Order: sequence, then structure tokens, then C-alpha cells
Amino acid sequence: MKFSHSQRLGSVLALFSLVLVFCDVLRVRALDNGLARTPTMGWLHWERFMCNLDCQEEPDSCISEQLFMQMADLMVSDGWKDVGYNYVCIDDCWMAPERDSKGRLQADPQRFPGGIQRLANYVHSKGLKLGIYADVGNKTCAGFPGSFGYYDIDAKTFADWGVDLLKFDGCYCDSINLLAKGYKHMSLALNKTGRSIVYSCEWPLYMWPLHQPNYKKIRQYCNHWRNFADIYDSWESIKQILAWTASNQDRIVNVAGPGGWNDPDMLVIGNFGLSWDQQVTQMALWAIMAAPLIMSNDLRQISPQAKALLQNKDVIAINQDPLGKQGYRLRKEKEVEVWERPLSNIAWAIALRNLKEIGGPLSYTTSLVSLGKGVACSPGCFITQLLPIKKDHGFYGWTSSFKTQINPTGTVLLKLEAISPN
Ligand code: GLA
Repeated sequence: MKFSHSQRLGSVLALFSLVLVFCDVLRVRALDNGLARTPTMGWLHWERFMCNLDCQEEPDSCISEQLFMQMADLMVSDGWKDVGYNYVCIDDCWMAPERDSKGRLQADPQRFPGGIQRLANYVHSKGLKLGIYADVGNKTCAGFPGSFGYYDIDAKTFADWGVDLLKFDGCYCDSINLLAKGYKHMSLALNKTGRSIVYSCEWPLYMWPLHQPNYKKIRQYCNHWRNFADIYDSWESIKQILAWTASNQDRIVNVAGPGGWNDPDMLVIGNFGLSWDQQVTQMALWAIMAAPLIMSNDLRQISPQAKALLQNKDVIAINQDPLGKQGYRLRKEKEVEVWERPLSNIAWAIALRNLKEIGGPLSYTTSLVSLGKGVACSPGCFITQLLPIKKDHGFYGWTSSFKTQINPTGTVLLKLEAISPN
């Protein structure tokens, strides 16, 4: 039997669509709200400003509309928005202690005199988006009204105000069952509003250590999810997050992808607790982990060095890579950890992390075949160092080695771009 050219083309196309459908079935389904196709980027008040309610004594650092308006202004004027940080997010402690007569949450009238709606309008007028915080249980972690029993009302209130992201905490929830029901209920309630609202969960964090989270399920309801304890402005905290992530990577890495991400918590770069090399490590590893890049710092007072690191376009591009695959720890040696992440266009990001906290820069050599499943540098590759400073290392053959120096607690972040074989 003979096929015409168009029949043959038709069959090829049909086969191609079948393969696509099959691949789609194999992918872990994500929350279908079209959001967070790459990790969310923005600013959140918690780590830096916590629950400061004292606007008399500390007008510049209390949780008030002024704080968020100032951050929004700076996100535009200081180039943050241009490189992708576009969500200005409120954490705990924005609420009045009671709901209103109709059962709706309300902002504290002294600290947010224009209410959340006016703040949302302001943030939107700057081309940015507004995030808010609530809790699945009876109270927020800081003791403000929880959403338990009010999920639909709260979702509608947030949508009416023009909110674009909800961080939904898990304090004061009476059982693991109610926790799951609550997180699912709020996800559906947000979807029902018809407004695009990124849904940032802490569901798995509140399940550990007694219960194993079902990440496939969580991904169907949340755009990102916290797995581990709150970040602090300290090296110890960064190390714990990285250690947890590496030791649980078999469970969590494959679940991440466009629409749903593991959230190792805020970037604390630009604060007080991390040395320069430790800040480089946070930025490099958050890029490898495809983590939401949500800063918690004071954009009014940030060093040029920290700002340049947070605004590093090459590193942001790794974090936001459209392939959307989370990286992992490839190997742990006595003094060095090697992490890698596959990128689009047959490229790889490689992070070489010096675990030593004593001495000077460590010389480290790695064979290139050991990286990127043997193909990152096959048959050869161009190597660009992105952190701590940008440096073009040029061409390397498949069988060669790469040698560098890594500062104590620091990381060298590389991009390997394989040359095509023909
Ligand atoms: C929990 C969360 C933090 C922060 C606080 C606010 O601890 O994990 O990220 O939102 O609550 O009270």
C-alpha cells in the first residue's frame, strides 16, 4: 500500500502527539492554575522583620503598609523587578486580632490604614504583585485569626482585595487529617475565585517527622511547599537546610517542575549572619535547587555586593531555567560536595561547595566525565564560572579535568555547555 506525502506527515504527527500525551501522563501532575511555571521570585517580610508590631518605637521596621510600599518602590527603582523579583509578600502579623462582623479577616487598622486592597492597588500600580499570609488552623503561628472554618470566605476576601499569592501556614491545626483537608480546601477555594493566586504551602513541614508527605498529592494542590524548619540569619541554618535537602533528595527532587517547587525558605542574603562566601553558597544552591527566590532583607539598606549577588542575571537564569528540573547532590567527599542541575540546551549547572570551615581556599579537581551523567562535557564543553565571580574558562575535552579553588564555606558555581557532536 502506498501513502501520499500528506498521509505520511499525518501519521508522523499523530505518533508525535501520542508520544507527547504519554510523556504528559508520566509527568507528575501539577496544580493546574498556570502559575509558578518557574520558581516564584519576590520579597517576604518574615525573616528580617518578623512580628514587629511597635510602630510607635520602630516606625521603619514594624509590619505596616508603609514597609511594603517602600519595598515596592525600591523593587522598581533599584532594578529588582527588572531581574524578576516581582512578588511583594506580607507574612504573619498583618491582621487585626478579630474578624469583622461578616466573618472576614481584616488588616490591623492602625498599621494598614488603607487596608489590604489599597496596598494591592499600590503594588499593582508599580507593575508588581502582592502576597499575603494566612493559616490553615485555628490561629496563625503568631496567634492571629486562623482560617479554619473560613476557607471559602478568606479565599474570596483575598481575591476581592486583589491578592496574587497566599502563603498558607500550618500552625494550630488539630490533626494531620484536618491539615490535609484544609490545604486542599483552600487550594480549591482559591481556584474557585477565578483570580490567579500562587498557593505557597507548608503542608509537608507540618507532617514531618511523624508522617511521610505524599508529594505527588501535594503538588496537585500547591505551587510550592516548605519541607523543613524556618530559615534563620545564620550559616548553621543554611547548612541544615542543605543537609536535609540532600538526604531527602530521592523523595523530593523528581516531584519539582513547572507549576510546583520545593521551597527551602527565604534568601537571607544582605542581612547580618552570613559571610560573603556563605551568601554565595546560598545563592548558588538555591539556583541548583530550583527554589523560589524570595528574599527577606531590607532593600533600603543593602550592600552593593549583596545586591549584585541577588541580582546576578546568570545565576537567576539557572534558577529560572525553563526545563524546570531541580538539581541534586551528586557526591559528598570529605571536604567538598558536588551538586548538579540539568538545564535546557544540553547545559548543566555544577556547584562545588567547600565544606571546610578552617584554612584558606581549597584546591579541588574534578574529572569532567563524572559530571552531568557523563554527558555534560561530551564530547567537549565550554565552562563558565558564574560565582563567586564570572570567569570564562574556555573549552574542555570530555576526558579532561577541571581544577579550581573554593573558599571555606563557599561555593564555585559553574555552567557547562556541551558542544554538539557534529
Ligand atoms: C511559621 C512559618 C514562618 C513564618 C512564621 C510566622 O514559623 O514557617 O515562615 O511564616 O510562621 O509566624
